Amino acid sequence: MIKSLTIPCKASSFYFKKVEGPHALRSRKVRMELTITQPDDWHLHLRDGVLLEAVAPNSARHFKRAIVMPNLKPPITTTAAAVAYQESILKALPADSDFTPLMTLYLTDTTSPNEIKLARKSGIVFAVKLYPAGATTNSQDGVTDLFGKCLPVLEEMVQHNMPLLVHGEVTDPEVDVFDREKVFINTILRPLVEKLPQLKVVMEHITTLDAVRFVESCTEGYIAATVTPQHLLLNRNALFQGGLQPHNYCLPVLKREIHRQAIVSAVTSGSKRFFLGTDSAPHERQRKECPCGCAGIYNAPVALSLYTKVFEEANALDKLEAFTSFNGPDFYGLPRNKSKIKLIKTPWKVPESYAFASGEIIPMFAGQTLEWLPSIVA
Ligand code: DOR
Ligand code: ZN
Repeated sequence: MIKSLTIPCKASSFYFKKVEGPHALRSRKVRMELTITQPDDWHLHLRDGVLLEAVAPNSARHFKRAIVMPNLKPPITTTAAAVAYQESILKALPADSDFTPLMTLYLTDTTSPNEIKLARKSGIVFAVKLYPAGATTNSQDGVTDLFGKCLPVLEEMVQHNMPLLVHGEVTDPEVDVFDREKVFINTILRPLVEKLPQLKVVMEHITTLDAVRFVESCTEGYIAATVTPQHLLLNRNALFQGGLQPHNYCLPVLKREIHRQAIVSAVTSGSKRFFLGTDSAPHERQRKECPCGCAGIYNAPVALSLYTKVFEEANALDKLEAFTSFNGPDFYGLPRNKSKIKLIKTPWKVPESYAFASGEIIPMFAGQTLEWLPSIVA
């Protein structure tokens, strides 16, 4: 018979479970489990068509809700398009899935304030995404005049308490690619926060010590940041280890080790300003492994294992649940999930690839063995 032992930790809904029994006795090993509130993914690319069908079930397996990025071709610029996109996402899910896609609008120089009214009224749009034109994948229709043409829309967003999600990089080719986030903070983000202090802003996928310091310097509840597994676990060496590594290429690009360490410290500190956003961004293998490869790392199947690893290595497992499951909904003013997920400390192998109708997708850490296997508590 297996005997289980539960050891309470600081957070009430969080515990280690040691399972003892004949197997444990033989191997003299103790199995560890964590049970936490089911997380949401506050930054996710689900794509459309056959790619959507391939990836949506993998996110829905672990996450209860996700903020879905609007950078499709053509981009999701209207509430009507967001409604249609949400329907196609729901169709791509398994019949028994209760995953909720939270939709976003793609901000352009011609977005009208009325579109924000419609978005809020719809009840399905939860944020507006700012891509500086040319900053990343499908951003060619993005913003060129934030403080001019977009100002009336931003003011309308304040009225409706609608968050602005920011891809925080300048696009000036003269600016070194590793400095683009820092320059964006100084030239765009800080002035924006000073001009519209009531605007809720999420700085997406932060990559630098500069971003950590900026977010920490702002008013809590108005400015927050999402953090990806890759920016917590990899530094820029991972792009060149043993040769060019296209599957580690994303934007904003990986940075120096000091920046990675600053981000780890920020998320494991227990601050409410930082929350989980995978930026899982699948591209078909051929579009990554080619002369001009796309930016984006497909991490949805491994993200929860990897975040848990980061918190474990920082001796901060008691802070994991707030990062994965509380800080995000609290910032967005949404209820925390009631459902639970279990993280079991057992080795499991990441698939080498995920095949789909028109090719394959290579996940982050393909073929490697990870610890912490997620499993939904029925
Ligand atoms: O690496 C990235 N991939 N960064 C982004 O900002 C966009 C994303 C994508 O859509 O592929
Ligand atoms: Zn993204």
